[in-house]
Amino acid sequence: MRTTRPLLILAITGSLSVPLAAQAPIERRIDSLLARMTLEEKVGQLNLPSVFGPVSPAQMDLVRKGLVGGLFNLDGAQAARDIQRVAMEQSRLHIPLLLGLDVIHGYRTIFPIPLAEAGTWDPEIAEATARSAAREARAAGVNWTFAPMVDIARDPRWGRIAEGSGEDPYLGSLMAAARVRGFQTSILATAKHFAAYGGAEAGREYNTVDVSERTVRDIYLPPFKAAVDAGAGSIMSAFNEIGGVPSSANPWLTNTVLRGEWGFDGLVVSDWTSIAELIPHGIAATRADAGRLALAAGVDMDMVSQIYLDSLPALVQSGRVPIAQVDSAVRRILREKLRLGLFEDPNRGVMATPPPLDRDLARRVARESIVLLRNESGLLPLGANAKTIAVIGPLAADSAAPLGPWHTRGQPGDVVSVLTAIRERAGAGATVLHAAGTGLTDADTSGIAAAVALARRADVTVLVVGEPDSMSGEASSRARLDLPGVQERLQQAVVATGKPVVLVLMNGRPLILSWAAEHVPAIVETWFLGIETGHAVADVLFGDVNPSGRLPVSFPRTVGQIPIYYNAKNTGRPAVAGQHFPSKYLDVPNSPLFPFGYGLSYTSFGYRDLRLRGARLGPADTLVVTVTVANTGTRAGTEVAQLYVRDDVGSVTRPVRELKGFQRVALAPGETRSVEFRVPVQSLAFWDAAMKFVVEPGTFHVFVGSNSTAELDAGFEVVAP
Ligand code: NOJ
Repeated sequence: MRTTRPLLILAITGSLSVPLAAQAPIERRIDSLLARMTLEEKVGQLNLPSVFGPVSPAQMDLVRKGLVGGLFNLDGAQAARDIQRVAMEQSRLHIPLLLGLDVIHGYRTIFPIPLAEAGTWDPEIAEATARSAAREARAAGVNWTFAPMVDIARDPRWGRIAEGSGEDPYLGSLMAAARVRGFQTSILATAKHFAAYGGAEAGREYNTVDVSERTVRDIYLPPFKAAVDAGAGSIMSAFNEIGGVPSSANPWLTNTVLRGEWGFDGLVVSDWTSIAELIPHGIAATRADAGRLALAAGVDMDMVSQIYLDSLPALVQSGRVPIAQVDSAVRRILREKLRLGLFEDPNRGVMATPPPLDRDLARRVARESIVLLRNESGLLPLGANAKTIAVIGPLAADSAAPLGPWHTRGQPGDVVSVLTAIRERAGAGATVLHAAGTGLTDADTSGIAAAVALARRADVTVLVVGEPDSMSGEASSRARLDLPGVQERLQQAVVATGKPVVLVLMNGRPLILSWAAEHVPAIVETWFLGIETGHAVADVLFGDVNPSGRLPVSFPRTVGQIPIYYNAKNTGRPAVAGQHFPSKYLDVPNSPLFPFGYGLSYTSFGYRDLRLRGARLGPADTLVVTVTVANTGTRAGTEVAQLYVRDDVGSVTRPVRELKGFQRVALAPGETRSVEFRVPVQSLAFWDAAMKFVVEPGTFHVFVGSNSTAELDAGFEVVAP
């Protein structure tokens, strides 16, 4: 049992965490409710329908009869108040409803997509945006978000890479915990999709996952564990199978690992119809079988399938499902409702008028999320000689795409486009020209010539291209990762003018940028930055802000390299230049175009004096690493100093390096700072040959620097106690 999780009811009112004893009344209240519930009412708590527009009369009736535990996708505070009133006043046992919504990166104030935000390498800011989003959502009657999405993603074809924190379990775990803490200041958070949903074969959404238990445990599960340790009250079971077992009917995942090993006592909700999908998966012949399997596997709440409501009463009555399984699921749902304080006041935090947009935070996080990928000859920031600026591209004036694929109640009208912000920032001192040049996805090339003519007239072109928001997120896998439509042609035509070009990219995943990386002097990755997109981009382009974002995911050179990730295995035949038989391609290098952790600044940084305090450590010790980081350029800037570890020899093969620490370090020009990293030896544990989670004695290497290819290194040894 977790003992440290504060009760939300108290967190909302600002009190501190509550000792275990204070939670006892909750269990007693659940006992008393369970004793009074009919079988139908119990099963009703497990039922989670979605509304489609207003609550339908049939759904209203189910609520009145106590046959609904929660609803989701409601619109607005009034709808929430109305339905809570029905549940609290007209249902027999007056049990309030969980009201869910996908509040992923903002409710009305839309912040950068989670992948972009992970590029801040700043968990505090992720916590702040989650807190802000939760407050807005709660004001609109939402008490449960289906976020954070904590799936590790190693395949940019998978559209849902946009919703998570990228490829690394350590960065992903810190972001997961931060977001859970932020959301749970006022609503219930859901870590999803449990588990290994990001491992879909060929990056195709909903596809089969077949990874080893070791990879599940070492790579995919750590962010879930971090979310649970941070107090996440709910977990969503995923659509996918792992090695033949669909995750919505996987007792090992849910009962053994999540509840048994981690002590999770919150609720598990299925994904949308993922219980019904056990039939096409081919492990259940009937709806009743699907329900029986899911419940036995510890999935408490049935999202949309309505199988539990329809089938469980008969299954219990016929003895095929033990009532104890139903009772346990009901208990976990009631527990979260009680922790949220819904019984006392389901409308706490709900507001008649929505709070104002949180623009300052949105701008801050958007600026921090931007990653400068290339900047030849210091083209950026734009200087006084940029008198005529051509802002070209289908996304330059777009105010829909920057909201990203999961923008909840975000409005294009709230978005500051890149064009608007550049005009605003350039003021009377410069002339800003604009042409879209092409559409986003169509084949029409008729506008390219006019756009090229503008580029010729300008001192510099800002070319804003990328993906529409609909090309990432759920059910949006791509097999090609070039700029869609005829945008590559637009790019090449504008670059062919010979005038300086700054490529500003908007996209929900790494794109293939090999041509641009050779021919376009400046490349700025902005992902989808939310309502303050334009301001944040202009802040960076004009040098009001020095970019500090770092890639949370590797950028491949070509689709054929996928999956590609920095924490790969060495293989028995690591690449050796000039040899034919190592593990390699004939046509491209093994390395990515831009590695994990990479990002430039308008200044430069240097590292020296890497020192370890103690080079022989026991399993309970902490490795202390110091390094001097210097700002070797002429502008103030923030470096993300990164520390990686390699376990030289293990009982099973180990990754070539793993991120184990990072720090954002703000430095004035010429300033140096000694930066200290503390790495608990326990954080080097992994699942060994006997599937035990251990730190194995032996030698290790530590690497410190600007990204995952850092070369400054030192060795240390872990000795048995
Ligand atoms: C399906 C998605 O996979 C999940 O992430 C989301 O929370 C649910 N739909 C509810 O909208």
